[in-house]
Amino acid sequence: MCGIVGYVGQRDASSVLIRGLRLLEYRGYDSAGVAVLTNGDFALRRSVGKLQNLEDLLAESPATGHSGIGHTRWATHGRPSEANAHPHRAGRVVLIHNGIIENFLALRAELRANGRDFSSETDTEIIAHLIDGYLSDGDDLAAATRRAIARLEGSFAIVVMSVDEPGRLVAAKSATPIVIGLGDGENFVASDIPALLDYTRDMLFLEDGEMAEIDSSGVRVSEFDGTVVERDPRRITWDPVTAQKGGYKHFMLKEIHEQPQAIIDTMRGRLLLEDGDIFLDDFDLGKEWWKDVERMDLIACGTAWHACLVGKFFIEKFARIPCNVDYGSEFRYREPILDERGLLVVVSQSGETADTLAAVEEARRKGVRSAAICNVVDSSITRRADAVLYTHAGPEISVASTKAFVTQLTALLLMALFLGRRRGTLSAEECRELIEAMVHLPSPLREALALAPSIETMARRYVKAENFLYVGRGLNYPIALEGALKLKELSYIHAEGYPAGELKHGPIALISETMPVVVLLPKNGSFAKTLSNMKEVESRGGQIIVVTDVEDDEIDQVARDVIRVPSVHPMLMPILLSLPLQLLSYYVAEHRGTDVDQPRNLAKSVTVE
Ligand code: M6R
Repeated sequence: MCGIVGYVGQRDASSVLIRGLRLLEYRGYDSAGVAVLTNGDFALRRSVGKLQNLEDLLAESPATGHSGIGHTRWATHGRPSEANAHPHRAGRVVLIHNGIIENFLALRAELRANGRDFSSETDTEIIAHLIDGYLSDGDDLAAATRRAIARLEGSFAIVVMSVDEPGRLVAAKSATPIVIGLGDGENFVASDIPALLDYTRDMLFLEDGEMAEIDSSGVRVSEFDGTVVERDPRRITWDPVTAQKGGYKHFMLKEIHEQPQAIIDTMRGRLLLEDGDIFLDDFDLGKEWWKDVERMDLIACGTAWHACLVGKFFIEKFARIPCNVDYGSEFRYREPILDERGLLVVVSQSGETADTLAAVEEARRKGVRSAAICNVVDSSITRRADAVLYTHAGPEISVASTKAFVTQLTALLLMALFLGRRRGTLSAEECRELIEAMVHLPSPLREALALAPSIETMARRYVKAENFLYVGRGLNYPIALEGALKLKELSYIHAEGYPAGELKHGPIALISETMPVVVLLPKNGSFAKTLSNMKEVESRGGQIIVVTDVEDDEIDQVARDVIRVPSVHPMLMPILLSLPLQLLSYYVAEHRGTDVDQPRNLAKSVTVE
């Protein structure tokens, strides 16, 4: 959820940058900074915490000039600190970056071997050093940037400036958004449209694999290989709300598409790939608190409760701590057995859900430690719990939860790995393998999202359905529950989720030609068993929709529709499988004409019991 702003023109650059960063404030951040070209060098101002801290710093120590770059950061590689805040400087270059550089360890080692020193723990700083190195070879800024990005793996949006080319910004994009705002004798660059709407409505959007050279009189767009791109600007007529929807028809669709970035934001600064460990310094329950945890209670409501069901798998597998999962509304009334060897973890997007909050209060009354996995900073639940692990999903405006859910799954996995490493139930090697899989997860998630047009077409076939079943096994069973909840909430079609093995114990009586059954069929240890369950449905005439990462003719013969997703680590499958199910619910609802963002009878935060 980092924010990027850049400016070149005649105005006071600091003011433009701060104004743009303010308009991106809703995305959240832990530090911010600007670099402004002043008298032939960069004035770099950075501070931790609120944007106001940066403004105070600029009031004390102004950065005066007409071109510059600014950034708000959520910590990724390296903790929130002034040294880790952007912009980063290396020699003649300053640079801001959104995204994650996956091969940064190898690049940093190479740069160190070439005598480069680093002043931060970030992956970003290596990009600045690469570019500065290529400038020393005699390249201009655009050529040096081109050479540097050819070395990068991962996702990035960068904006870079050099002291040698005053009044010039170079931006590059790969999988993370960049928009260029066109003015009269001035130009802008940002990560998001709302940051620029105060200044211009004429925008150029960079595509993946493209760069832009920007000065006050024009913009030159090219592909990473140098091929020039001719692109007409678009005039953005969106009102501020549509701008916030990013041009999507609904907030829900925007939020579905934000999920690869959202889970990156949940992982930021928490993965220690080299050590095979998880870093949770913002989650503090006291000295070595993990040693004496003998059981855990995971409490939540709705979608967050489904996340807890998956979390139980993660925690029991990696940390070997027995876990109980309960609804907030049930837990508080059933005289739960709680004692000081337990840890109560509540999961909530809003941090305001009354029944979940009551569970934290129950824990406090009984002197039991409590922790929250939460999205909304400083919400009631986060203020009551002893420790908080923020999901950093950014604002979720659609009532139906999507990115909050996958980030809750991610946070629960981080917690399980953290506990497993501390308690000696998970080796560094096993943890490293999972961390690597997590770092690579955004790409398959994007591939799954690219299935949206075919899912939209498929959804038309089910608009008239009156009932749906969803089945899955193991840690994907809660995803079947979540898929059914999403469909109910959005389309008002009755839907139920079941463990696939439970079908024959009753629900199979419901199967007929009018019953769509969504089967979650990933390649894992229970693949063959779930396949047999699917055949049981087929022989009773059910309309099967399979979501699978397996290429197998048998599946195609049995199923009416197949949604084929990429393969990922089995522990990450619940995250991946959630996406096509969200899209299916979204498009069925859209075709039925329901109010997707604000379904009837529902509220975003349920503050009543
Ligand atoms: O804010 P919370 O995560 O505590 O909210 C819990 C549920 O009310 C919420 O997940 C609800 O089920 C959503 N509408 C699901 O899409």
